[in-house]
Amino acid sequence: MIEWPARIKLAQLPTPLTKLEKFSQRFENTTVWVKRDELTGTEVSGNKIRKLEFCIAEAQAQSCDTVITCGGIQSNHCRATAILGARLGMKVHLILRGERPQMPEGNLLMDYLSGAEITYLNQGEWSSHEALARELQASYQAQGRKAFFIPVGASDEVGLWGYIKASEELLQDFSDLDLEPEYIVTATGSGGTQAGLIVGTQMLGIRSQVVAFNVSDDAAYFDRKIRDDVTLWKQRYNQQFDQDAMTIKTVEGYLGAGYGIAGPEIFDIISELGRTEGLFLDPVYTGKAFHGMVTELLKGESGQLSGAKNVVFIHTGGLFGVFPQQQNFRFE
Ligand SMILES: Cc1ncc(COP(=O)(O)O)c(C=O)c1O
Repeated sequence: MIEWPARIKLAQLPTPLTKLEKFSQRFENTTVWVKRDELTGTEVSGNKIRKLEFCIAEAQAQSCDTVITCGGIQSNHCRATAILGARLGMKVHLILRGERPQMPEGNLLMDYLSGAEITYLNQGEWSSHEALARELQASYQAQGRKAFFIPVGASDEVGLWGYIKASEELLQDFSDLDLEPEYIVTATGSGGTQAGLIVGTQMLGIRSQVVAFNVSDDAAYFDRKIRDDVTLWKQRYNQQFDQDAMTIKTVEGYLGAGYGIAGPEIFDIISELGRTEGLFLDPVYTGKAFHGMVTELLKGESGQLSGAKNVVFIHTGGLFGVFPQQQNFRFE
């Protein structure tokens, strides 16, 4: 039995697990399924809300009335936090990496519409974002407020619970569908979704291997980050968990020119999936991971997903990140 920490229900759960009937026809022996976490909400869609259910519960347990968090200008996590803050009556202060654009679009537009306060740090200043968060906490305290800090992507020992809880949902899905997928595939950006799935599947005895495609950093970074977060999680929640038994599989090679920069193959696969299934990916996270998964499946037995009869792709959301890059789609 898992002893869950405090959680507030914010997401529309459970999300569906659906089969890609038409798209899967391109593989000889594999069926691709999608865990539709882009449906966790309309405005708050995506994976972050699962983590925020635990992080915001923790903030409220500490009697905080303000949340400070950080990320890229088009951060889905920051957008979800800004919206949840408005819903829950908590002030949200975002520290965003980049220059203030003339016209906010995509996720950033929604940050403004949700009333979040925003401080921009340029690339050179970004390494001090956590120090700035501490300064802001002190200045809120001086105003009689209490601010809770959530790190990039809510990927810490608290947010880790989000995809442990999601693994429980997957276990139920697999039992309902009589499915035993060989692989569960996700994009990894700050590591928390990957970490939660690895821990959750191991705790619940799900035999599928978690395979992540990095959209930033590299495999060594995620190895370290996940081990560190799991260590903190074990200590904080007094969990008996065999860390040495974890398999952390991060497949490199699909990052392209860098975080947030996608080549034509990514825009093409987004269009193709839109046409064949009416399902929409984004160019920053899910498009790159999906492209990586398809390429590895097409390699067959020499690929990183060898022996895959059933693969579950976690659709982690990100739709609002499509619009700031709409000029990159090619139409015939
Ligand atoms: C749409 C989307 N997919 C995937 C990820 C990656 O998840 P994680 O940060 O938990 O690695 C993120 C956030 O970074 C995201 O916004």
